[in-house]
Amino acid sequence: DLASKLIDNLPKAELHLHIEGTLEPEMMLRLAKRNKISLPYKDVEDVRKAYEFDCLQDFLDLYYLGMSVLLTEQDFFDLTWAYLERVHQDGLTHVELFFDPQAHTDRGVSFETVLGGLTSALEQAQREMGISSKLIMCFLRHLPEEQAFDALECACKHKEHIFGVGLDSSEKGFPPPLFERVFAKAREEGFVPVAHLGEEGTAENVREGLDLLKVERVDHGNHALDDPALTQRLAEAQTPLTMCPISNWRLKGIPTLAHSPVKKAMDAGLLVTVNSDDPSYFGGYLNDNYRAVYEHLPLVEKDLVTLAQNSFKASFLSDQEKQIQL
Ligand code: HPA
Ligand code: ZN
Repeated sequence: DLASKLIDNLPKAELHLHIEGTLEPEMMLRLAKRNKISLPYKDVEDVRKAYEFDCLQDFLDLYYLGMSVLLTEQDFFDLTWAYLERVHQDGLTHVELFFDPQAHTDRGVSFETVLGGLTSALEQAQREMGISSKLIMCFLRHLPEEQAFDALECACKHKEHIFGVGLDSSEKGFPPPLFERVFAKAREEGFVPVAHLGEEGTAENVREGLDLLKVERVDHGNHALDDPALTQRLAEAQTPLTMCPISNWRLKGIPTLAHSPVKKAMDAGLLVTVNSDDPSYFGGYLNDNYRAVYEHLPLVEKDLVTLAQNSFKASFLSDQEKQIQL
């Protein structure tokens, strides 16, 4: 229908996307074979059947298992290229993507192998599809801060390719104060800070992210809306929220898509964006997420245009680059 065509044709940026979360079952099995890695799945259907999650941790367990097939620079290139080709059809023109180096260096895959594959795919996408991009390196919050410092040291050797630092993985039990020092060092080194906050964690986690980590954007941020004073603060500062409706639903953060906080956040004057998070695991790419909020929330077509415009406003493109995209 009309709204669906509008969604397909609107230029959009994606700001909350874990590249390892784009690994489709077909590629997972192909790479497992290529790299002689054994997986507890016998076919594609078997993989898809396993993707039933009751919480963030259920997903994370399979997410780390799945990425164990990624070994070579070519693997990381193939992964990234497949995502970019897929979302090029969605009208995506800019992406700020997360990667989790610790999940790879922990398995003996070098930081340079990961980064090399990602950057060559991103550079080719700029040349051949006109897609611009920025890379955000995430620290895994279930691992000690010391290991985050090791990742930061690697990142410092590749500043020309890494724009920001983020914080992801298990939120419960791993609050922002644990990462205050590594974020301070990262900011000092010139990396722009963002963090997953208020996905399963509380409004207090979001506040700590702003005050202690000094994040410039909040990933998810759903539970910020539980706190009116914090909501007002985010609205006044126009701190962007990168929301992920299908992810929230699949991880049971919300019981149905009609409970997505996207509309409530828009009404509160927040700079909210719609994103896919881990599209292969949650069964929806960028435009599927736009369609999901349009179908399940009281949104009109003009709101879809606002959300697409917000995706550029909330991006880390320069003001001049934003002008061109908007
Ligand atoms: N939350 C936390 N960690 C993650 C996510 C997420 O949505 N996706 C990949 N790692
Ligand atoms: Zn995420």
